[in-house]
Amino acid sequence: MAIERTLSILKPDALEKGAIGKIISRFESNGLKPVAIRLQHLSQREAEGFYAVHKDRPFFKDLVSFMISGPVVLMCLEGENAMQANRDLMGATDPKKAAAGTIRADFARSIDANTVHGSDSVENAKNEIAYFFRATELFAYDYKK
Ligand code: RTP
Ligand code: MG
Repeated sequence: MAIERTLSILKPDALEKGAIGKIISRFESNGLKPVAIRLQHLSQREAEGFYAVHKDRPFFKDLVSFMISGPVVLMCLEGENAMQANRDLMGATDPKKAAAGTIRADFARSIDANTVHGSDSVENAKNEIAYFFRATELFAYDYKK
């Protein structure tokens, strides 16, 4: 299987709970390595641009206001099958429907405050990583070592 990259965001509720260490630990113990990490308080424009695909959905305003309610941790994760592996660790969008043992089942309190974002396709992952990180900010692991 090929090594892939995906974008993860630890949302404001993850930081408020003090859960970022526990969440990153789940990524690391499941073969997903951070190749870039940054803590940032998104502006409204940045959050709206990031979630532009949802701009006509009824939940867009709430989604953006939640995403700018506090700082987030932006991460590019790398590993085998990284996009799907991250989605599997995250669990369903609505924490009430998320499988036991997933991040959202364990940490999220509502469909808005659902703790993590993950890219939903390899193509979107490329665009989302480029939205937040320059190529020079992404660490290149040497897998031949
Ligand atoms: P994310 O993009 O944050 O990783 O979440 P996702 O793929 O699991 O879900 P998506 O459909 O992309 O929706 C983005 C975020 O919008 C909020 N949402 N609310 N009230 C609703 O029906 C509803 N649907 C989506 C969630 O906070 C979701 O994470
Ligand atoms: Mg999504």
